[in-house]
Amino acid sequence: MIKKNLKTFVHYKLLDDAFSKEDIKVATKVLKSKKITMSKETFNFEKKFAKYVGAKYACMVNSGSSANLLSVFASCNPLRKNKFKPGDEAIIQGLCWSTSLWPLVQAGLKPVFVDVDVNTFNVNTEELFSSINKNTKVILLVHVLGNSGEIDKIKKICKQKKIILIEDTCESLGSRYKNKYLGTFGDFGSYSFYYSHQITSGEGGMVVCNNFSDYQILLSLRAHGWSRGLKLESKFKKKYKHIDERFLFLNSGFNLRPLDITASIGNNQLKRLNFFINTRNLNREKIIKKLKNSVNWDDQFTFLNPAKHLNPSWFGLPILVNKKYTGIKNKFLKFLERNKIENRPIISGNFLNQPSVNLYKLNKKKYNLTGAEEIEKRGFFIGIHTKNISSKELNYLEQKLLSINKIK
Ligand SMILES: Cc1ncc(COP(=O)(O)O)c(C=O)c1O
Repeated sequence: MIKKNLKTFVHYKLLDDAFSKEDIKVATKVLKSKKITMSKETFNFEKKFAKYVGAKYACMVNSGSSANLLSVFASCNPLRKNKFKPGDEAIIQGLCWSTSLWPLVQAGLKPVFVDVDVNTFNVNTEELFSSINKNTKVILLVHVLGNSGEIDKIKKICKQKKIILIEDTCESLGSRYKNKYLGTFGDFGSYSFYYSHQITSGEGGMVVCNNFSDYQILLSLRAHGWSRGLKLESKFKKKYKHIDERFLFLNSGFNLRPLDITASIGNNQLKRLNFFINTRNLNREKIIKKLKNSVNWDDQFTFLNPAKHLNPSWFGLPILVNKKYTGIKNKFLKFLERNKIENRPIISGNFLNQPSVNLYKLNKKKYNLTGAEEIEKRGFFIGIHTKNISSKELNYLEQKLLSINKIK
């Protein structure tokens, strides 16, 4: 009897199976070599990653947050021609992640928040354009859950106005806009390989760029401001020849280096990314069809559709509950958790509602971000897996998700 119950029990997680046998094998090999710090596995992954997304350069770091931090600090580096200075304005959408926003503040920028479109969850282009003024020096776009805004139009205006464009692509690795990978439109694109992202190495991140000098800045900031691994001009070398060239510090810096262990896993997962994208697309269609064809379907939910011109690489299945269920959404999410269906908010909702924003007094100006508010109140997401979804799982999701109308 117990055995039978266990068999019918379903736990629908955000991610079905984080690591394959091969992932574990490559990681173990690095560990066994006893050389686990950043080295050839990382450089190899960087090359493969840059090639995959079609960027000239890629620099791996220890998280997506570090990738954002590095992109922002590279954008004000003294070695950069077009750079921002403290007090300049950075535009960011209210529907963002904590570490999309904080590097801007940490680097002395003044964030200006704009709204997102409820239909795409991504930045509202008109509002973004009307917020640009002579003080705007940075736009940080977050591509939400595999979807995107009108990145080509945004890139064009950034180019015209010499605004630095940073694409936080931590949730959208593999999505293509007009066949070009998200993260490769701006000056910098950042990615995350945290658990349950499109590929995962546990922790890990990447920054891509197309400018050699930006790349050199990224490399030195990543590792203490060190010159190690950089191409130095002979004039420069000559000037500092009195210093031990192995320990030459030419820039400010952090230590955001990844491990070769995580790089080997990331690299191995990258080989399966196209397969993951296709399977996730199919599973997404199956779930939506199952719900919409159910006898219990009563327009309980709206699903996020890909933006125009976008080939999505989905990060989960974002859902908006019907307006009449707004008041019970949080109870419903607890019900799903009790029934072992893992779920998450859409990023963290309208970030302006968070206490950290009050702490830094970023909301002195009264913003009215109705799109981000609505997504916070009505939105959540569940996982979509990289193995074909079973009929047992589909039935389970149908039964539990559609019982939102029974929650009191
Ligand atoms: C939009 C966005 N940016 C940045 C991050 C940070 O990535 P990490 O968790 O790898 O630091 C996340 C995390 O999920 C995210 O969703």
